[in-house]
Amino acid sequence: MNPERLPLIAGNWKMNKGPAAAGEFAQALVHELSSIDDREVAVFPPFTAIPAVAARLRGSAIAWGAQNMHWEDSGAFTGEIAASFLVELGCRFVIVGHSERRTLFGESDTDCNRKILTALQAGLVPILCIGESLAEREAGTTSTVIEQQLAAGLAGVNPNAELVLAYEPVWAIGTGRTATPTQATAVHAQIRNWLRRQIADSLANRTRILYGGSVTPESIDALMATSEIDGVLVGGASLHIERFCRIVRFQS
Ligand code: PGA
Repeated sequence: MNPERLPLIAGNWKMNKGPAAAGEFAQALVHELSSIDDREVAVFPPFTAIPAVAARLRGSAIAWGAQNMHWEDSGAFTGEIAASFLVELGCRFVIVGHSERRTLFGESDTDCNRKILTALQAGLVPILCIGESLAEREAGTTSTVIEQQLAAGLAGVNPNAELVLAYEPVWAIGTGRTATPTQATAVHAQIRNWLRRQIADSLANRTRILYGGSVTPESIDALMATSEIDGVLVGGASLHIERFCRIVRFQS
């Protein structure tokens, strides 16, 4: 972590926890984390559980967000959710371009870019996920892939915007294989340099870059000890109260 950027610990629940279970979990989080003020915490329930989570978290320091959204404001888009619906539920964040959305649901960089621009306009803070596959890493193309995802995903973004980036190597997601702090730091530094070169110094200095991929209570402290990692996006371990709270309470 770097003292200039408030660390962000985000829990992506994916397709887990319906409204009842999510509400109970949120209540437990409020109880466990009431005294946390030097780091930001956010959870990402499924759409249908957002109201139950919001009801418990409102007035606490814990934020909530959605795992996806559509770029249009309204219309004939069966099964989709507009940014304004998320704002109405008090969401602060929205995840865009998670690798599961890209690989399982065919989301392109262009789709991600539309979502980013719409989210920003609606007042949401988008968390753009980027990352290379195992084949891409082994072929030595990690930096090309990352820069391509950044260029396409962030096209037209205002340098004053508040957004978050999440570096999530696809080979580390849900596999139990966490990137080492050295591997993550190398890519994070490259992402920050890209922001500096292509958009603005101020955006590069201010933007939080999270690491995601099999983060656990065992791996968190070493990851957060590096100055390039500003937080984490946690999947599996965010579903267990003790494990998630231990990650939130990282020591660097
Ligand atoms: P994981 O998921 O922590 O279960 O690897 C991370 C993510 O997909 O954001």
